[in-house]
Amino acid sequence: MTDESTRPPSKKLSRNDPCWCGSGKKYKHCHMRQDARQRARNARTKRPPDVIVKTEKQIAGIHRSSQLTSEILDMLEQRIEPGITTEQIDEWVHAYTLEHGAIPAPLNYRGFPKSTCTSLNEQVCHGIPDQTVLKEGDILNVDVTSIVDGYFGDSSRMFLIGNVSPAASKLVQVTQECMYLGIEQVKPGNRLGDIGHAIQQHAEAHGYSVVRTFVGHGTGVHFHEPPDVRHYGRAHTGMLLEPNMVFTIEPMINAGAYGVRVLDNEWTAVTVDGALSAQWEHTVRVTEDGVEILTAGREK
Ligand code: MF3
Ligand code: CO
Ligand code: CO
Repeated sequence: MTDESTRPPSKKLSRNDPCWCGSGKKYKHCHMRQDARQRARNARTKRPPDVIVKTEKQIAGIHRSSQLTSEILDMLEQRIEPGITTEQIDEWVHAYTLEHGAIPAPLNYRGFPKSTCTSLNEQVCHGIPDQTVLKEGDILNVDVTSIVDGYFGDSSRMFLIGNVSPAASKLVQVTQECMYLGIEQVKPGNRLGDIGHAIQQHAEAHGYSVVRTFVGHGTGVHFHEPPDVRHYGRAHTGMLLEPNMVFTIEPMINAGAYGVRVLDNEWTAVTVDGALSAQWEHTVRVTEDGVEILTAGREK
């Protein structure tokens, strides 16, 4: 509820009208400048027309695809271990997706050759499954997106291969905390910048850096929709969040510098300095009073 006397007027007052706040002063000597600044801010951050606020029917569909995505990642938790190849992971994801009547979104997406992305150690994202054998001490991101009845659900998790170094496991854990701190900022009235700010604060407090080149994104009806969701930035800036927006939060956090370089395969991004990188991703929905994690599952 808003107290009427502390709220700016819905219709524009003239300069010489009494101010809406009840001070008894003329508007021009009271709240006029402040209201103009607020209107300018609102105009800058208004939702662009290309952002799809989802209908109940779309949300139900996106929830189903998101739950399949999460189930696929749960399935992988049982199977990923030292000695397997990333290609084997791709085959498991591909088969499981088709068995459940769904389509793996990455396959042939802008020419991507596989059904999932597997990004190992210094790889930041978009790793292509191949004959690489996982070995004790590796850290691996597997990014899964499934399409069910035309709706997309996008999520990724980190997998520790056998025993990993304390430094690597710390990076993985802090990156997961970054994702959840970002998710905690999701509620109507908050802004996209609040998400990025929370993530950046936490990552940098641990001496890590936030990747700038890749961002989260609206999703659900298409694989990648507006808006971009940055994992760095300033609080109280950017687009206002409103109920039934659906987007991903997927921070990529580097142990060293934030710069990335794309390999000759034109997909795989790696850290410029060869340092480790980690990423976690959920698809979330803005609810009436907070957030729903559509891809929530059994991740540890
Ligand atoms: N799933 C990735 C994301 O989080 C996108 C992968 S695009 C692909 O946005 F083509 F590499 F699959
Ligand atoms: Co994504
Ligand atoms: Co993804």
